[in-house]
Amino acid sequence: MSSGPTYVIRQAASDDVPSATTLVRRSIAELCAPDHHNIAAIVEGLLINKTPENMKAWIETPGSFVFVVEAGPILAGVGGLTGDGEITLLYVAPDFRFQGVSKALLAKLEDHARSLGLPNCALVSTDTAQRFFEAQGFASYDKDEDDFGMDATSMTKAL
Ligand SMILES: CC(C)(COP(=O)(O)OP(=O)(O)OC[C@H]1O[C@@H](n2cnc3c(N)ncnc32)[C@H](O)[C@@H]1OP(=O)(O)O)[C@@H](O)C(=O)NCCC(=O)NCCS
Repeated sequence: MSSGPTYVIRQAASDDVPSATTLVRRSIAELCAPDHHNIAAIVEGLLINKTPENMKAWIETPGSFVFVVEAGPILAGVGGLTGDGEITLLYVAPDFRFQGVSKALLAKLEDHARSLGLPNCALVSTDTAQRFFEAQGFASYDKDEDDFGMDATSMTKAL
């Protein structure tokens, strides 16, 4: 990561629910504009399941793993992994974009998947993040449209 604040990556706790939810919602609304073009109905659709209730379940359910990147007292990133290697969340706070947060968080998720004995990780990427994931070793194998007409690229990486 770049110099500047010291980052700590740790598994999320129930106390993180409000700030992690806010981070994910801001990241989608502000950073994924090339995907949703600020069309309100699409943004609302993308945010509909990014609720505190769901974040609490993702953090607390056994077999579901959420990690956060702390920059001092605030969160800079949130990442999620299922027990079968699907990366479900990878979001950086807009103020911390392109400072190495997502790279470090993705490496942590991959390490965790390895520790579970999994052979690969998979994810579905927005157009916004596809180049980033390719640079981290993910390969695209399918491209579809999601429920809102946005490109959704299925990607995988052998661990
Ligand atoms: C693209 C994104 C995921 C990158 O996260 P980040 O924390 O800002 O990125 P990092 O600093 O960790 O990594 C930088 C890498 O991103 C890539 N990158 C650089 N500029 C980029 C750009 N304009 N667009 C996409 N990727 C870029 C490069 O590979 C760069 O690596 P390098 O520094 O070795 O060249 C993030 O900025 C983003 O837009 N998130 C939106 C939410 C999202 O779509 N999440 C994924 C859901 S599937």
